[in-house]
Amino acid sequence: MVDVEQLLTRLYGDEGRQDPYPTYAGLHALGPITALPPRPEHRAIAAVAVGYDLVGAVLRDPEWYKQPPPGWAEQEILRTFQTSMMFVNPPDHGRMRHVFAGTFTPRRLGALEPVILRVADELLDAMADAGAGGTDFVADFAYPLPARVMAEFIGIPEADLSWYRERVDRIDEFLDVAGKTPQRLAAANTAGAELRAFYADLLAHRRRSPGTDLISGLVEAVDAGGIELTEDELISNLIVLFNASFVTTVYMFSNGLPLLLAHPEVAAALPGDPELTAGAVDEILRLEAPVHFLARAAPRDAVLGGVPIARDQNVLLVIAAANRDPARFPDPGRFDPRRSGPPSLAFGIGLHYCLGAAVSRLEGRLALPRLLSRFPRLRIEERPTYSGSLFLRGIDKLLVHTGGEERP
Ligand code: HEM
Repeated sequence: MVDVEQLLTRLYGDEGRQDPYPTYAGLHALGPITALPPRPEHRAIAAVAVGYDLVGAVLRDPEWYKQPPPGWAEQEILRTFQTSMMFVNPPDHGRMRHVFAGTFTPRRLGALEPVILRVADELLDAMADAGAGGTDFVADFAYPLPARVMAEFIGIPEADLSWYRERVDRIDEFLDVAGKTPQRLAAANTAGAELRAFYADLLAHRRRSPGTDLISGLVEAVDAGGIELTEDELISNLIVLFNASFVTTVYMFSNGLPLLLAHPEVAAALPGDPELTAGAVDEILRLEAPVHFLARAAPRDAVLGGVPIARDQNVLLVIAAANRDPARFPDPGRFDPRRSGPPSLAFGIGLHYCLGAAVSRLEGRLALPRLLSRFPRLRIEERPTYSGSLFLRGIDKLLVHTGGEERP
């Protein structure tokens, strides 16, 4: 049998980064959790878990905590992460999350629907204007849709979006599981400092001339003393919120399109079938999860699935592999939008469950049928390549041929 060392060597290489799923299948064959041999890039990671039930149980247990990698404390980028809900533990986590969760109300979600439809239609119009030829689906649709929708929701000027993305990319490269090199750290630090300055300006601007966006609402609440959040924490949370909100959703679209087009009967039926569309969006997220790894540290000496984990050691939780656990998802690699079974772990679970899960699902449910009814002959021009990151995995460029539009 192949051992974990061989599997990880493959995973960290180019082949594994392009297609990690054979490695995940190999890890499943070893069991729900496997102890890791010590390697410099593993730092305090004691084991890798892929079993759906085991991964879910660790994430649901509020005592398993998020631990910053050693040596981060002096770094600018860590300061940002460590003062945001995504990276802190209770009780600070609950205090911060509460502020933002309060803004994700059903009413606000309802108000997003027309924004999503308007932005989707504008992008589809532009694709149609370009004629029946080739286009990069990521540049023309998958990226600008969530970026513009979330920017409008949060209150980030659209003109700043490309500048912004470069900074986000620097941070995401550093977050990659094997990406913590000094050069990437330095680049992430600079990006973090630039984003902080950007938000400090934006908050000052919104203070002077408030709008109806999330930032204006938060600034008003902080200034009125109604919110238990310092300005520093507000900035950190906004950075993390916007980062979390669109890079992931870009990949929901770009990873999802090849799956849909490989199943023409599903693609053709989506426009008239909201239930099928909802199932297809969830199945895309299960099979091609944008986030592959999470990690949690043990609150005390523990034994997980027979593997001893010492206190403060981490377990790498491969949610993208848990989503293909053959024990929970029969024929796990098959795309089946009518599949019943447990929810995927694409949005995590437990305390840190994705705050924007409903937003992303809504974007997918509204925009994908729109796209497929407008371009029923859409096809992929060349084999896509993936980002190469093992943390956020997705297609960054996807050449498609629209095949001409169909006006309803
Ligand atoms: C398909 C798109 C998305 C995916 C796959 C995704 C995935 C995730 C995952 C796996 C987590 C859990 C992190 C952990 O447990 O350590 C998470 C947390 C989070 N997500 Fe998302 N996300 C998506 C979209 C969004 C959107 C649209 C927003 C904002 C509108 C958002 C905001 C957040 C925030 C703020 C957290 C941290 C919550 C906390 O720590 O309490 N995400 N997301």
